[in-house]
Amino acid sequence: MHQNSWYNSVLLPAILLLLLFGILINTVKAQKFKELALTPPMGWNSWNTFQTHISEDLIKKTADKLVSSGMRDAGYTYLVLDDGWMSMQRDSLGYLVPDPVKFPHGIKAVIDYVHSKGLKFGLYNCAGTLTCAGYPGTRGHEYQDARRYAEWGIDYLKFDWCSSDGLNAQEAYTTMSKAIKKAGRPIVFSLCEWGSSQPWNWATNVGQLWRTTGDITAECWDCIVDKGSYSQYSPMTIMDKQEALYPFAGPGHWNDPDMLEVGNGHFTEGENRAHFSMWAMMAAPLMAGNDLSRMTPTTLAILTNKNVIAIDQDSLGIQGHRKEWTADSVEVWIKPLKNNQWAVAFLNRGSKTAQLQYTWSEKVLRDSVHHLQLDLRNSHYQIRDVWQDKPLGSTNQPLKTVIPAHDILLIKILAP
Ligand code: GLA
Repeated sequence: MHQNSWYNSVLLPAILLLLLFGILINTVKAQKFKELALTPPMGWNSWNTFQTHISEDLIKKTADKLVSSGMRDAGYTYLVLDDGWMSMQRDSLGYLVPDPVKFPHGIKAVIDYVHSKGLKFGLYNCAGTLTCAGYPGTRGHEYQDARRYAEWGIDYLKFDWCSSDGLNAQEAYTTMSKAIKKAGRPIVFSLCEWGSSQPWNWATNVGQLWRTTGDITAECWDCIVDKGSYSQYSPMTIMDKQEALYPFAGPGHWNDPDMLEVGNGHFTEGENRAHFSMWAMMAAPLMAGNDLSRMTPTTLAILTNKNVIAIDQDSLGIQGHRKEWTADSVEVWIKPLKNNQWAVAFLNRGSKTAQLQYTWSEKVLRDSVHHLQLDLRNSHYQIRDVWQDKPLGSTNQPLKTVIPAHDILLIKILAP
């Protein structure tokens, strides 16, 4: 065979075939990343209750409980290990070392256990040189750490912003995002830079969710706690900060008002219900942050209410917003859902019982960002009480009811 004809008939087609194969593999990989977090991620995170007091035993027991309590089947699939899982030093090759006392069999064994329960696993690190609790950060090790996480089989990475002096957030998070993509395993990338450099303006293609505020606290339901060099925000005050950001959320890119405090602190049943309802109205990631081994049946019932979760997980992926305040200072929030339905929340933030009288026939529910509206002035629709799971009349009559202090009425308007 002539050298030229061998080139044309064997080598060239083989090269082309290899190139095509490469393109196909990359397209399949890119597709896997595109399909991450099409609805807000749900799971459990160790930080709110345990801070750095974490261990193999805690994670295994939490995984067991996520299954036996029904939380996994209600949608809480990501078990995320927050700060404090590492040793204070990297090894001589620069790899992160899991704390050998907290995790005597390493992290991979814990991840395998969590996976064997039908759950996904998340880890925490930080874009800066140190994590917020002082463990080794990822700065300068982005590709190395991402490769290691992919080898271990993690599914979710929460990436914090402590010890980040001199760094540009967009650049730092983009570097880690590229490192994750290069490592090839589809990992949900959760940006945790507290909204400081407005990630909603640049992070849509960097990660799947971004924190919008400083840390949540269960110390109070409606206050900002001054901690000296930083502040912590109660569920109601976080909600205020997140409200205006509703145009930026959508499938695969969520505003994150931080993990849930349902079942923590001294919240009443009504407060827990209102907090959870409002996270659903905001299409927020639902990361439980309570001690599952001590969870009361009421807390479990709130966290696993399928009607409320369905509002959060609605496939339109629209974040609700505040429509108005009623005469009794009840906040009215609206969230368009698929099939022309709407969720409406009447939140009594005040400390007195509210007598609600809401006249539908004067109202138009409108989300001008997503060009959706429901005109209630001439057409009437059936209403359902979401928590009670029962009909609540029609919009042809004013809604008259009593809402206790710090509680909520959550309804769905059912378009035919
Ligand atoms: C920051 C984050 C928290 C938590 C801690 C861990 O404060 O915002 O959610 O991850 O760090 O140290």
